[in-house]
Amino acid sequence: MQQGELPHAKAIQARDTAVKLDIRGISKRYGAVTAIDNVSVQVRDGEFLTLLGPSGSGKTTLLTVVVGLTTPDDGEVRIDGKAATYAPPHERDIGMVFQNYALFPHLTVFENIAFPLRMRGRSKTAIAAEVKRVLDIVELGHTADRLPRQLSGGQQQRIALARCMVYQPSIIVMDEPLGALDKRLRDTMQVEIKRLHSQYGITILYVTHDQDEALALSDRICLMRDGGIEQLGTPHELYFEPRTVFAANFIGDSNVFHGKVRTVSGDSVVLEVAGGLLIETGAPKAPVSAGDPICVMVRPEHVRLMDGGADGCNRFTGHVESKLFAGSMMKVFCRSVGGIGLQAKLAAARDGRSLDSARLALGWNREDVVILEEGSAS
Ligand SMILES: Nc1ncnc2c1ncn2[C@@H]1O[C@H](COP(=O)(O)OP(=O)(O)O)[C@@H](O)[C@H]1O
Ligand SMILES: [Mg+2]
Repeated sequence: MQQGELPHAKAIQARDTAVKLDIRGISKRYGAVTAIDNVSVQVRDGEFLTLLGPSGSGKTTLLTVVVGLTTPDDGEVRIDGKAATYAPPHERDIGMVFQNYALFPHLTVFENIAFPLRMRGRSKTAIAAEVKRVLDIVELGHTADRLPRQLSGGQQQRIALARCMVYQPSIIVMDEPLGALDKRLRDTMQVEIKRLHSQYGITILYVTHDQDEALALSDRICLMRDGGIEQLGTPHELYFEPRTVFAANFIGDSNVFHGKVRTVSGDSVVLEVAGGLLIETGAPKAPVSAGDPICVMVRPEHVRLMDGGADGCNRFTGHVESKLFAGSMMKVFCRSVGGIGLQAKLAAARDGRSLDSARLALGWNREDVVILEEGSAS
């Protein structure tokens, strides 16, 4: 390591040790339904952590436990190292933003934002100054006298954000805050939220079912499934090193192949997929032997057109079943004679003719084959 890198490494280390929000072994049942099943997550000070998962995976339940609207059956919530599991919401120093922005419809923007400060008994001058400050941050100072219904959806959401920031909570939780907005507004708000996060160092626990949003915003993603954690890691880790079939399918597009190990030698494993496809990959984490079932993934963007024939490992020949032009690239779906499907994202040639041939020879690198855990349903 170079000398100059040390302070940075130290800063990262210090950050790693400061746990802001400690979720320990939380479980919550509703009758026969286990909404949260023994979940532990540590959110670091200043971190942007996203709970990502399909509908019903327990994201909202976990958030309501964190903010104090739901009492868990088991487990503990600690904030800044102090037990908070049974503390009422207003004692937790957590701001909340939910999907249906829930501004008071009969109050002006100013009064909406002033509300949490009035609740805390701040002086009139302090309130005026603080409301102005956060309205400037979300760039909506000119709307102070309007009613919520006189604002667009995106503006209302920014006001909700301002109201939650105004009393300077050290943690903000957001439950699908952009879910009700159209795509253009969602993109703008994502940038806004990210900017607020990096500028003010607030710890954010964010909930979404949208994988692109999670990848774009998060320092780390906690992928939820059926009330449990499927995988916890950086966006990069979840995308490039998904552990299970569920993770591979939920984040990004993927080709998942189930096969049987044919040969194992040194750091190389060759597997055979029914229908006649040989795939070579690197050494697995757990040892395998010939005949074992094995599951692997190849991202469509790692598949490319090959010049030569289709012999050997990581080679695929098939006919084009469908093509989708997406500007910078073509999404191509191919099927082999043996019936195996393969999705590829190929650079779109200006004439597009290279993809018109009846049979395409495709291939990928051994390094781009990721071994997935068996046992998780696809
Ligand atoms: N108040 C409740 N009463 C009964 N079941 C609930 C309640 N809240 C959530 N659940 C159930 O718990 C599971 C997790 O729900 P939720 O946390 O809302 O998931 P998500 O936010 O990921 O969509 C679901 O099966 C849901 O039906
Ligand atoms: Mg929810």
